[in-house]
Amino acid sequence: MRILNRLLIQSTFRYHYRTNTVKAQKKSNTFNLEYDPIKQTIIYPPELLINNKNYPTDSWTNVNPHILSRLGQNLHRQKNHPLYHLTNRIRQYFYQQKDPRKQSPKFSIIDNLSPIVTVQQNFDSICTPNDHVSRTKSMNYYINKDTLFRAHTSAHQVDLIRSGLNAFLCIGDVYRRDSIDPTHYPIFHQCEGVQLFNKEELFMENRNVRGEKDNLQIFAPNEYRDATKQEGHTLEAVKLVEASLKQTITDLFKTLFPNASTLNSRWIDATFPFTHPSWEYEIEIDGKWYELLGCGIIEQSVLENSGLGKDYIGWAFGLGLERIAMIMYGIPDIRLFWSTDSGFLSQFQFEDSTRPVQYKPVSAYPQCINDLSMWMNKTRIDPLDLYDLVRSIGGDLIEQVLLIDEFYHEKKDKHSQTYRIIYRSMDRTLTKNEINMIHKDIENHCQKQFDVEIR
Ligand code: PHE
Repeated sequence: MRILNRLLIQSTFRYHYRTNTVKAQKKSNTFNLEYDPIKQTIIYPPELLINNKNYPTDSWTNVNPHILSRLGQNLHRQKNHPLYHLTNRIRQYFYQQKDPRKQSPKFSIIDNLSPIVTVQQNFDSICTPNDHVSRTKSMNYYINKDTLFRAHTSAHQVDLIRSGLNAFLCIGDVYRRDSIDPTHYPIFHQCEGVQLFNKEELFMENRNVRGEKDNLQIFAPNEYRDATKQEGHTLEAVKLVEASLKQTITDLFKTLFPNASTLNSRWIDATFPFTHPSWEYEIEIDGKWYELLGCGIIEQSVLENSGLGKDYIGWAFGLGLERIAMIMYGIPDIRLFWSTDSGFLSQFQFEDSTRPVQYKPVSAYPQCINDLSMWMNKTRIDPLDLYDLVRSIGGDLIEQVLLIDEFYHEKKDKHSQTYRIIYRSMDRTLTKNEINMIHKDIENHCQKQFDVEIR
């Protein structure tokens, strides 16, 4: 029955593509899309109804039915899901941290904010420059020029600080257009952490040799920006905040991976528009380094946008939950997080989220590899556009898409690209025939959408 449902869903997609129309249906998320073969774009209706709200479309609109069909699943809140267990463990770690004066947990935890945000929230509020690459259409799912599916949980930093929180976690699904392989999926989950300190909180423990409080300051107006700090911050304040951030993260990972004493980790200098200085945190497992999070000292202008710029300094981090869960439970492929297969979910049916579990593959089904070569009649295809199209047609049967060859043929005055599409089901063996049909469908739609000749 389950397999049948799956086939039905996919053949619905195929059917609509064949008739040049795609229908996305998930509760209220219904709309019809058509392709304009001349402009090589999807034609959207004037408005999209998403979660009972109408959004006007425009030239920025690029959401697709696959994304909409995933909306509202909230895997991190689904009991007995690996992401639920992981967030529980992160929660437990942060709940243990008490506010020394009130003896209550220091961190508030917010995990239910809508992933539909404004450009202002996702970029402007956290000081992302207007020409920053992270804003481009090719990296995000826009509903229209002002609204998109959040690309990170940092989109909520300013609102949450404004609402009065000084220490919080914000957990949710995030959406990014990206390559297709076993570790990338256009939707994944993040946990944002933020902690702010005023002068009293930051220097509380610092007393000089005579036992008096040092007159240490967070701000010094004449201080300039360098690699270690922002302008206006004192080095002693920044170093204390940096120590708090790094200690918090290192201890979190010691809790998540109790063998952490044998787990190598390192801090890599990084750059984000909303923190300075910034780092990435990596851990080493079986000789391979994994980047787990980005973090840093919050840009003071972000705190100014939140109304706290005068008295507070703080740190922020954003960690990717799937990647950690994949390492923690030995889950080999990111698509498994969306599996409704009982063979997968039953392995996570337990109350105690701290239970160590190693995922056992239900069975390894074979891959099926088909190449797609084409001549482009006009411009070169942006691989991200092709990934979206392949995913929309092949759904979760697509394990990986690789651009394996690309060149420009002078005489023909044409670009050529060859993609390798690797098909694999998570729960059954695919027949050659079935794959050929999907592959043919992908070819047909490439011809319609991109004006190419299949070679
Ligand atoms: N938002 C960043 C990302 O998604 C991560 C981050 C969060 C970095 C907070 C610094 C501070 O890549």
